[in-house]
Amino acid sequence: MDKLQTIEQFIDDRNANGLRYETYRSFLQRVNSDKYDDARCRRSFELCERILKLKHERGVWIDMHNYVDQDIIGVADGIGDSFKLAVLAQEIPRDAVTTVVGAKVRFMNETTKILNPTLRVIQANRFAGCSLADSIDAEALQEARDKLQAQYPDLFVMAYVNTTAEVKALSDVCCTSRNAVTIAKKLPNRTIMFVPDENLGREVARQLGEVPLQYSHLQAALPHKRLVNQHGDSSFLLWQGHCYVHQDINPDLVHQLQTAYPGIAVLAHPECTPDVLRLIDDDKILSTEGMIQYVRKAPQDKFALLTSCGLPELIRAELPPGKEILFDFGACRHCQFMARIKLEDVLRVLEDEREAARNEILLSPEVLEKARLPLERMIELSQN
Ligand code: 13P
Ligand code: SF4
Repeated sequence: MDKLQTIEQFIDDRNANGLRYETYRSFLQRVNSDKYDDARCRRSFELCERILKLKHERGVWIDMHNYVDQDIIGVADGIGDSFKLAVLAQEIPRDAVTTVVGAKVRFMNETTKILNPTLRVIQANRFAGCSLADSIDAEALQEARDKLQAQYPDLFVMAYVNTTAEVKALSDVCCTSRNAVTIAKKLPNRTIMFVPDENLGREVARQLGEVPLQYSHLQAALPHKRLVNQHGDSSFLLWQGHCYVHQDINPDLVHQLQTAYPGIAVLAHPECTPDVLRLIDDDKILSTEGMIQYVRKAPQDKFALLTSCGLPELIRAELPPGKEILFDFGACRHCQFMARIKLEDVLRVLEDEREAARNEILLSPEVLEKARLPLERMIELSQN
């Protein structure tokens, strides 16, 4: 086995010394030695070599979300949660890069395009969507805004980044799971319509110290969408969208893990239901990047990460001896959309122009312009 490297050190080392087979194989086998057996490591390495050659010849930037297949790290310039990827998108060296290939779901690739309108942004896999982002469209948001604006003149739409570019274009500020509370705290005395993740919206409201949520008369105003209202300094109107992966995680799972492994640190993504989150300490409700940072620093030696399985697998690559991530009782579930994105897809869009054209993110100039403002506001408000 090669020396233990963090995820970032792996990328820095590859940039400095080139991709070396032994280092790559040992990283992947720490992730999952069944999934990444020698034959798969060899095949992935060969794909990486072809991709890296094309990437350097053509000025391509490749990034990946924490959930996707870990062998993509052999070619990735950036990896992270949706906030880190948005910040990285602003830092792409535009003099050297012409094209971004995103090993991430569509809304994340749209964010890259919005923040880099002059670059060509290509999805590695155009079928990688997000059911949460699909739970709201621009027409429904516009209708809700129109109905509510008269009643709430201070209405402020806070859109989770898991939304289409068209929805962002109708929103006042964006947020991710990492910065939603920080941003909401900076919007005092507003009626915040939080779209589309109901669980994250409730969690933000709870962390702001609001009274328990009550169902509102707004249900009658918008019969096709159930909104809930909360009274306090800010009122929260919540869209009823959910991530199918996190919605499926059950509070019994937390009890099972804690009973089987006393002292275990159970971390949960804020897209989990309130029934799950109420069993989790506040400092353990985290974005995917937050989970990586937590595990790195934590004194505990056992962890369960209630989120999509790509992330707990990824963290295993850098775990020192004595620390372990547990997958018992179905602690994580694979996001079917992220799971579609393969290293082969990255190569295909680089080798096949027709595939690249089919997978390119194309947005109207108006949407690009309007969606940029809430994203830039998010990045600005995330700074402490
Ligand atoms: P993060 O921003 O925490 O990576 O979350 C993205 C996501 O889609 C969670 O399901
Ligand atoms: Fe969307 Fe859920 Fe998959 Fe995240 S895990 S990309 S929110 S479907």
